Amino acid sequence: MSYSAWDELASDYPTQIKKGFDVGESRGLSNLEGITNLFIDRYENLKDIFIKQAGFHPSGSIKEIKREFRIINSDKRKYQIIGMVSEMKRTKSGGKMITLEDSTSQVRVFIRKEDPASDSLLMDDVIGIRGSFEKDGKWIWADEVQYADILVNHQNKGGEDIDPFSIAFLSDLHMGSKYFLEDTWDKIMKWFNEDDLSKNIKYLVLSGDCVDGVGIYPNQEKNLSITNAFDQYDFCARKLDELPDHITPVILPGNHDVVRPAEPQPVLEPEIQQAFNSAIHVGNPARVNLNGLDLLSYHGKSMDDLVPHLDDVTYGTSIQGMKHMLKKRHLAPMWGERNALSPEESDQLVIRDIPDIFVTGHTHSHAVNWYRGVPCIVSSTVQGQTDFMQMLGYSSMKGYLTLYNGQNRESKVLKFHPNDS
Ligand SMILES: [Fe+2]
Ligand SMILES: [Fe+2]
Repeated sequence: MSYSAWDELASDYPTQIKKGFDVGESRGLSNLEGITNLFIDRYENLKDIFIKQAGFHPSGSIKEIKREFRIINSDKRKYQIIGMVSEMKRTKSGGKMITLEDSTSQVRVFIRKEDPASDSLLMDDVIGIRGSFEKDGKWIWADEVQYADILVNHQNKGGEDIDPFSIAFLSDLHMGSKYFLEDTWDKIMKWFNEDDLSKNIKYLVLSGDCVDGVGIYPNQEKNLSITNAFDQYDFCARKLDELPDHITPVILPGNHDVVRPAEPQPVLEPEIQQAFNSAIHVGNPARVNLNGLDLLSYHGKSMDDLVPHLDDVTYGTSIQGMKHMLKKRHLAPMWGERNALSPEESDQLVIRDIPDIFVTGHTHSHAVNWYRGVPCIVSSTVQGQTDFMQMLGYSSMKGYLTLYNGQNRESKVLKFHPNDS
């Protein structure tokens, strides 16, 4: 029989977890100062990625470029600029007139309708453009628009250097909700305990909304089976005790959890963590190194802002939103309309280093797909269709368990819930 990394036993390999950045409360910054700080840090980080990783070098700061144009007064000279989109208007021709800003100045830039970036551009995006001034210097015609994207030939870590176990992904358990699918959960747990393939799994990543929470939306009480948040966590912890010993759960919060809603969200408080026996608790977003594989897990609340603004992103196709995040190298590119961001000293939602695995939840959808050498996973839910989703006309994808084997880079999807309920 030929070798398969899927046949290896996870219990033969050590548990090696290194947590990435700590998500902290904002450090005494006033809101305005904090927000300014956050944007400066985002710009500087993305500029660094443009220069060091994407090989895009600016001709100078916006102030320097404008000064040079005033001296040479040539509409032939090409400039490269890195700036943040601070204004955006659609023109009659279908193109876009935007304002780009850096810490020195701002400049208007015209982007043609045919430009591939034209449809995906969002406010607060940090982009690189190449172009020349129109003859009076009022704006720049962009020949090319770039994101701090991952290079086409990038490949994540994998192969012989990586232990052959797999990582399982689920999210949005919403325990405490009367829509929590206990039968489906029980089937999943039975599988974890009885199927041979489960012996290959070392970690179970739960990307937020493990409980339904309390007071998250108006009249939530009538949808709850457990009305106290601490009791919900206790219930969840007991349900996770059903996992076999060789699987360690990794838990991050989402918008239903008992932590501040503004991102980045801190780890669950110690009192809640105590209820869980073997789980590793991290913030949202989380950067966790699992035996050498760098995992980026983000609950995915910023999808609520991407869905109304990007044509190719819906709740059912949130995997597309993940690709935009990787392309833009930011987990919440738009300053939240629906998603709140916290004014931190540094912007922890910038994707500085390319992860080996990228996972989100929140949309109650499911997909596995690759983007430029990075496996992207939308973790499925164990909550049934709620009245709210019914109202949106959205049918969620429930009860899919995703497995990813780090050594052979293969994924498997197991389905535990029938289509029609
Ligand atoms: Fe959820
Ligand atoms: Fe959520």
